[in-house]
Amino acid sequence: MAADILKTLKDEHDQLRELFKEMEGTTERAEKGRMDLLEKIKQGLIPHAVWEEEVFYPEFKKRADRDGRKTHAEAVAEHRAVELRVLPDLEAASPTTTEFAGRAKVLGEFVKHHATEEEDTMFKMARSMFSAEERAQLDEQYKNWKGTPAAAQAIEKALLKGAEANKANPPPAA
Ligand SMILES: [Fe+2]
Ligand SMILES: [Fe+2]
Repeated sequence: MAADILKTLKDEHDQLRELFKEMEGTTERAEKGRMDLLEKIKQGLIPHAVWEEEVFYPEFKKRADRDGRKTHAEAVAEHRAVELRVLPDLEAASPTTTEFAGRAKVLGEFVKHHATEEEDTMFKMARSMFSAEERAQLDEQYKNWKGTPAAAQAIEKALLKGAEANKANPPPAA
């Protein structure tokens, strides 16, 4: 099958769904398992989200009608909630606590809801906005971007913003 950015993003959503399912099965005794899973979730989530924000979403918005622009605004708002509150709150919890379990569940719920909305609404719209050739080009661009210093820097910046938001407004102590 030809390369297609929408397929790549959907595959990454599926990988995240799997990781959240695994996380849901862990207990307070699985300190290392939970830390490893959180790391994998961040590695799957952050580059994906940053690239969507920097490349895919703006290109989508440019081509969108009113409905599309509303869908775009919704997606951006969900990214902000996850990056500035939900993920940093989880990172502030110790993996040996039920706070960690609860916050991991909330992150999973946000991400799964968001991924499903992208797939059912945004990507559906994008399929008619972008030609197969453009989708293949975006796919290549995304794969090339990953692992570059610019990507590492953007990811670092996103995590720092989350940490700062957390410091300014910390969650209740776990
Ligand atoms: Fe997204
Ligand atoms: Fe996505």
